[in-house]
Amino acid sequence: MCGIVGYVGPRRATDVLIGGLARLEYRGYDSAGVAVIDGDVLEVQRRVGKLANLREAITVKPIEGSIGIGHTRWATHGRPSEENAHPHTDCSGRIAVVHNGIIENYSDLRSELAAAGHVLRSETDTETVAHLVEAYYEGDLVEAVRKVLARLRGSYALAIVHLDSPDEIVAARRDSPLIIGLGEGENIVASDIPAVLEYTRKVLALRDGQVALVTAEGVTVTELDGTPAEPEIIMVEWDLAAAEKGGYEDFMLKEIYEQPKALRETLRGRMGADGVIQLSELAMTPEQVAAIERVTIIACGTSYHAGLVAKQLIEAWARIPVDIDVSSEFRYRDPIVDARTLVVAITQSGETADTLAGVREACERGAKVMAVTNVVGSRVTREADGVIYTHAGPEIGVAATKTFTAQIAALTVLALRLAQAKGALSEERVAALWDELAHIPDLVEAELEDLGSIDECALAFKDATSSLFLGRGSGVPVAMEGALKLKEISYIHAEAYAAGEMKHGPIALITPDIPVVVIATQGHTYEKAVSNIQEVRARGAQVVAVATAGDDEIAHHAEYVVTIPRVSEQLCAIPATIPVQLLAYRVAKLRGCNVDQPRNLAKSVTVE
Ligand code: F6R
Repeated sequence: MCGIVGYVGPRRATDVLIGGLARLEYRGYDSAGVAVIDGDVLEVQRRVGKLANLREAITVKPIEGSIGIGHTRWATHGRPSEENAHPHTDCSGRIAVVHNGIIENYSDLRSELAAAGHVLRSETDTETVAHLVEAYYEGDLVEAVRKVLARLRGSYALAIVHLDSPDEIVAARRDSPLIIGLGEGENIVASDIPAVLEYTRKVLALRDGQVALVTAEGVTVTELDGTPAEPEIIMVEWDLAAAEKGGYEDFMLKEIYEQPKALRETLRGRMGADGVIQLSELAMTPEQVAAIERVTIIACGTSYHAGLVAKQLIEAWARIPVDIDVSSEFRYRDPIVDARTLVVAITQSGETADTLAGVREACERGAKVMAVTNVVGSRVTREADGVIYTHAGPEIGVAATKTFTAQIAALTVLALRLAQAKGALSEERVAALWDELAHIPDLVEAELEDLGSIDECALAFKDATSSLFLGRGSGVPVAMEGALKLKEISYIHAEAYAAGEMKHGPIALITPDIPVVVIATQGHTYEKAVSNIQEVRARGAQVVAVATAGDDEIAHHAEYVVTIPRVSEQLCAIPATIPVQLLAYRVAKLRGCNVDQPRNLAKSVTVE
């Protein structure tokens, strides 16, 4: 939710700020703005809508100056408008602030500031910060910010400049992401790594409660109370090319095609020469694993769907009962979690507020918490007891694709490891499953080259207003993910059901205008899925069947058939996902939608 950038160095600040914001636009795109110190003037430019509007304004009226801050907004407090766009300034116009997060006590602060004579011009929570800095400033910006932070409740990543200290940016964070790219004679503050990669791969990950004084020469990090802090420096493994479109029309399409690589990287090194699945991140002895009575999975959105796949695998292979909850429900329902529970928190960004709150809740109750995330140094990596990384590389498209299948790969490894530690699967069975799993990236690669039939299916969806996705077993989470992808990027209503549930209500929806996707891959419920296809077709629906290669029978039952490579039933979630991702993509393109930046969404949900 919202992206922030700050630059200080020898370059023209607006070039770096606009370039950085473009790479953060996935975080929000309701409005954008910059504030740059140009000589003795603090120049502020803000525009409603996408970054392109701001870019155009700056092209018409360039701003010089080599220190500044910028923001791309996902509105929380106050509608998208120019007044509510960041940066926000104080009464004097000498201080500018950009913010990602929510200041929960902003209403009290506004009243206090107004009573003291400050004139607030926006409806935002952020503007209070600019005025508070003005109120506390006595010649030292870091000191003033420290005092302000002590007054704030809620979450923030902040970057602040003051005309009185024209070589300094002060940055601070609590519960919202913030990193600092460390360059040669220049430094860049940002919400996420892609914004700094053009200049450096050396990144300082600011921790909660820390304050950074950033100049062109260096960065000084202190804790909130002023004590010096030991900065955490990370060398980023991927380069700028990974964060660019690389010849693809959209990031989403590129990311769909990057899945073989993401899967290979995520699975790399997971099988030891001794036949034991390597998962040192679990850091549990066989006795500790044996003592696990239950696994609880928490996640939101697409990550929740990966969790549903994991539930099936852990129960089937390790024979441990698994609960799964969306994080926003888990944290508020007094969950039954204790020292005998392994909690698995799945979050690609590692910053989702509800999942982080769930992690905290679980830790307080004595559970061991494993995080599954794609972002090195993200918040969840500091809060969980252990971290399993997916190695999918940066995902810029708002709709999750490669990180979803990479999550399934990582969770499959976890399920195998638990099964092995529990002695619930024979060595031969683990070895056979691993062999098949390790082969999936190649199968997906071949599958991606052979999905031309999706274009025809997409035409059946193009003018639909509503659709259904059905599946059984591992096809249920795939159906749910397919429905989520379609609704978020094409704005067609889509519902997913366990196919057996259809006769208990949803079948009433079926008309010839409602296309139905059925995940009908081969397995022990295949025939039931075929019966479900017949039931919906008998009511006039057009069916797209996702079936297994070599299934000649299915073409007699469905108008459209998309085939996936043959894999064993329990491992087919990854290959079965590829067609539903591509279907959503193609439908959205036919409808002229912006697939990378769907309306109302932002990639990382750092507010509740
Ligand atoms: C959908 C999507 C979202 C995220 C959800 C959780 O395409 O991307 O549903 O899956 O916001 O995000 P993370 O995994 O970062 O916690």
